[in-house]
This record gives sequence, C-alpha cells and structure tokens, in this order.
Amino acid sequence: MAKKRLLSGIQPTGKMHLGNYLGAVSNWVNLQDDYDSVFLIVDYHSLTSVYENPEKLRADKRDLVIDLLSVGIDPEKCALCYQSDVPEHCELHLILSMMTPLPWLTRVPTYKSKMEEIKDKDLNTYGFLGYPVLQAADILLYEADVVPVGQDQLPHLELTREIARRFNHLYKGAFPEPMEILTETPAIPGTDGRKMSKSYGNTIPVTASPDEIEKLVLKMVTDPNRVRRNDPGNPDICSVFGYHKLFSAKTRQSEIDAACRKGEIGCFDCKKECAAQLIETLRPFHEKRQALLADPSYVDEVLKKGAEKARVIAQRTIQSARQLVGL
Ligand code: TRP
Ligand code: SF4
Repeated sequence: MAKKRLLSGIQPTGKMHLGNYLGAVSNWVNLQDDYDSVFLIVDYHSLTSVYENPEKLRADKRDLVIDLLSVGIDPEKCALCYQSDVPEHCELHLILSMMTPLPWLTRVPTYKSKMEEIKDKDLNTYGFLGYPVLQAADILLYEADVVPVGQDQLPHLELTREIARRFNHLYKGAFPEPMEILTETPAIPGTDGRKMSKSYGNTIPVTASPDEIEKLVLKMVTDPNRVRRNDPGNPDICSVFGYHKLFSAKTRQSEIDAACRKGEIGCFDCKKECAAQLIETLRPFHEKRQALLADPSYVDEVLKKGAEKARVIAQRTIQSARQLVGL
C-alpha cells in the first residue's frame, strides 16, 4: 500500500536549539520512515517578517539545512528543500488568496497576537496577513494527508481545511483535508531557567561543540536558595535537573534527586555530569555538522534533488488547480 503523504515546514531563524529539536524536528526524524515526507525550509514565510534583512535570511536558511541534516533528516527518505526553490508555492498561494475571505485571516489568533507582540518590525503588510494562506498552499500543494505541528499551529491547520473545502466546493476540486499529527512540545528549560527561546538568549544549539556545551551548562541557573555546597536543594526548580531528566538514566536521576535534597552533591559536580551527558548525546550532531560544512556541494546537491522531487508533485497539483479555476 502507498505511504501517506506528510508535509511540514520550518522557518529559518538561526541555529537550531534543543527546544526546536526536542519539540519538533526529532519527530520529523522518526516520521520520515513511515510517510512519504516533504520537509520545507519555509523561506517565503520568513520574508513575511524578516524582509528587511536579506543577509540574515540567507545565512539562517543555510544553517537550517545543515542542522536538519546533522540531526538525522535523511534526504534519501524524504524531500528536503527550500520553499522558494519550488515556485509552485507562489502560484497556489495566489490562487487560494483570491477565494479566501478576508475575515478568515483577520480572525486567526496567531495574526492578532504576533501583531501585538512584535513591535520592532512593521508587520502591517499584505504578506503577513496572508501568512496562513501561504501555509495552506504548502500543505495543499502536496495533497498532504498529515502535518506534524505543535499546538500553536492548529488554527492554521483548521484554516487550511476551510480553504480546501471552499476550493473543493467552488471548483469541484479534490484537495484532501489534512490532519495534524500533534507533536508534544516538552517545555525545555533554557540556561536561565525560563523556557528555551531564541528571544531570551538562553538556548543550547544542538550542534554545539563539547566545549561550548560545557560552558553553557556550567553557567546554568540552579536552585537559587542553595548557597553553600551542603545546603539542601530542590531539583524541581533547577534547570540542570530538568536536563538530567531528559538525558540521564532513570536510576541516576533518582540518585541525584536524593543527593541534592540532602545537600550531598554540589551543583558544580552535578553540572559537570549533566554537561557530559549532553555532550555524548549531541556529539554525533556536532560531528555531522562539521562534515557537512566541509562539503558544501553535497548540501547544494541535497537541496537540488529535494526541490526536483517536490516539484514533480507540485506541478501536477498546479496544473489541475489552474484548469479547475479556469485559467
Ligand atoms: N507556520 C509554521 C511554523 O511557524 C511553519 C510552516 C510553514 C508550516 N508552512 C508549513 C508548518 C506547512 C507545517 C506545514 O511553525
Ligand atoms: Fe540543581 Fe544539581 Fe544543584 Fe541540585 S545539585 S540544585 S539538581 S545543579
């Protein structure tokens, strides 16, 4: 039986960090075996907000391909490409934008919240309002059955289904309505104890070198009430312990938990151990990244092949969409 089609997209925003990886990309790596998968680096979506910084976009998208390959996205198993290397995205976006009622867009919760949240850029643009239509075009262009996304993207998925239904109704089209695969987003603590996020500057890049990881872990915040080495601590409020929970063996976690509460382990030693665990986990990613950096033409080739694979599907959809709407 043919595999179901899976489509997902990720915006290039700089080095991939542990939060991005554990929240989304590690799922992609697992899903690529079971689905006919297309993974897009959505550079057009990035342009909706970073249109004033071409150099940043150029560097960020290259970093992202390399990071995706470093953590195990396998170009033999999926199509990995830049959205802008498949111009059919633009055409479907345009066609869908013609029949998407404006109120469907102004009421999308991410639109309102982003407009209020982001003050350092002018997002009062035509393109930014159309962000979810472009996303719908990504999904429908490949007639995706499933879309792995986090909770925050559900309104965009719902809108995609509404657009698909409207198109199908107006033109007797046959876009399938995509279903989400909801990816759990474990709250990954950043180095300062807040949620890991680029905007807080508290991230750990997944391809960091052993030295970089050690430095970052050693400066992490622990239980602030622990002043002396033998003060009892509370692992529940310590981000270092948050990492032990993710990367250390279960039995070791309980030992550290108990030792911390009794003041029998120092934070420095605890951090050293944490860093060692993290270094072991991330070492293959770091090494893969170094190898890819040394072989730029391989990366170019992956992108070229990925776009070729994606375009075979995209062109078919566009041909039929053009036909249906009377172009
Ligand atoms: N909006 C998504 C995000 O910010 C990225 C995205 C663009 C996407 N196109 C997509 C996700 C298609 C899934 C499917 O995470
Ligand atoms: Fe955190 Fe470890 Fe220090 Fe306890 S001993 S507060 S778990 S770093």
